[in-house]
Amino acid sequence: MTASVNVNGRTSPARDAVVPVLDHGFLFGDGVYETLRTYGRRPFLFDRHLDRLKMSAAMINMPIPLSDTEWLDRVEETLRAAGGSDEAYIRLVLTRGVGEVTYDPAATPTPTVVIIVKPLIVPPPDWYQRGVPIILATVIRNHPHAIDPRIKSNNLLNNALAMQEALRHGATEALLKNYRGELAECAQSNFFIVRAGEALTPGLEAGLLEGVTRNVLLEVGPNAGVAVREAVLREEDLQSADEAFITSTTREVLPVVRVGPYVIGSGHPGAVTHRLHEAFIDQVRAAARR
Ligand code: PDD
Repeated sequence: MTASVNVNGRTSPARDAVVPVLDHGFLFGDGVYETLRTYGRRPFLFDRHLDRLKMSAAMINMPIPLSDTEWLDRVEETLRAAGGSDEAYIRLVLTRGVGEVTYDPAATPTPTVVIIVKPLIVPPPDWYQRGVPIILATVIRNHPHAIDPRIKSNNLLNNALAMQEALRHGATEALLKNYRGELAECAQSNFFIVRAGEALTPGLEAGLLEGVTRNVLLEVGPNAGVAVREAVLREEDLQSADEAFITSTTREVLPVVRVGPYVIGSGHPGAVTHRLHEAFIDQVRAAARR
């Protein structure tokens, strides 16, 4: 597969794809995005990602210039141009558009639409077998009344700073607290602990992205014999957790064995995490049959 990009309807190899410097996505981070992946070369849960993109856009008063069918057509065209038979990472990017350097949206009547398709890089199998260490970041998650974390925004400095801290510590992810000091979510994924057989994850009011993968687990948990529910989580809950894991489109359900100074449970991936990952994969298989 060759990385391919569609900019406002025109597909080209990624290296030739350009957006003008007066694009407000570049100048202000004024835009929203989605990350999807394919299974069997088909975008997984496309409708859910598109719904979230539309919600993100609405939350920053940004018009969406394409219909749902047009989005899908454009994604499929970009996938075809990328060629190959391997699985794809797909990023949908929508920015305020190109215009005079002012915060007045009237200066940018036409949003910019970019679709990036490139080979998907999945975490090494080792991460699932042994689990990963993450840090408890010193940077806190954006206050919902500043930049609401429910908006999947191109303004990713909060996430980037937390990830830089994680990488400095040789960690895979950064867990962020909210302004109240509760656990919220990670820089690029949602966070869960398992205690007494139940999987617990912070509620949306903690200030976090409503992850597509997180929602799938909330739905399929009961069928897999695991109660999955929202709960207020604090740092001390890391000490009493039997297991922990993170969820995201590109990482699915990834076991976490250490959070900063806290070794989680036995220090090994746990059975409940494994069962929920299996239940997630069952959904992937079910989607392939549809
Ligand atoms: N990240 N929280 C944040 C801050 C995220 O950026 C993501 C996804 C998630 C998980 O959401 P989902 O299950 O819908 O992927 C939670 C994607 C993968 C990214 O930024 O590329």
